[in-house]
Amino acid sequence: MVPPAMSSSPPLPIAVLVSGTGTNLQALIDKVHGREAEIVAVGSSQPGVPALRRAELAGVSTAVFARSEYEDRAARDAAIADWLLQRGARLVVLAGYMELLSDVFLQRFPQAVINVHPSLLPAFPGLHAIEQALDYGVKVFGVTVHFVDSGVDTGPVISQRAVELQGATDADAVLQALHPIEHELLAEAVRSFAAGTLRIDPENPRRVLAAG
Ligand code: GRF
Repeated sequence: MVPPAMSSSPPLPIAVLVSGTGTNLQALIDKVHGREAEIVAVGSSQPGVPALRRAELAGVSTAVFARSEYEDRAARDAAIADWLLQRGARLVVLAGYMELLSDVFLQRFPQAVINVHPSLLPAFPGLHAIEQALDYGVKVFGVTVHFVDSGVDTGPVISQRAVELQGATDADAVLQALHPIEHELLAEAVRSFAAGTLRIDPENPRRVLAAG
């Protein structure tokens, strides 16, 4: 029997930035690492977080870039970019990274930084998105994966999925419902980027083309 065709492209070197628990990082380790992508670096804004342990267990290089160690945010971001580029990263995934990235960073990775956010953007950007949605009284929650620009969760949308949760009152319960969606959409975005099928439309920079 003829074996199934194997993809000839080598895995895309990617980096992941984290600040906390790291379930999205874990999803990338489980779903795409060593396949379509190779996670070559995990950077954290916080020391001692579970996400760092997940990276170490997967044999991925880690580093902590605490804001207090640098003169300002731009200096910290330049140091992160230097490290990720030295490690060969071609895509940077923000997976629960609780810091804004300055332009000095974004210019080093043009159109190659993506983020996962637990709301249907442009609703409820920024911190505490689920709490914002609960306070507003929405019945439909959701997840957005988007390219990162210099605004707060304002970059072009790559993918979104809604989930109806009538009567939700508990942020943790909503997060538990959203997490599997986040993990799936983020892994899918990385696969598409690695395949070269994901890019921003030069004619309309708000629109992401995801050619098959
Ligand atoms: C996720 O809900 C993500 O949408 C938000 O931060 C959370 C990170 O969770 N940006 P985890 O650290 O990946 O578990």
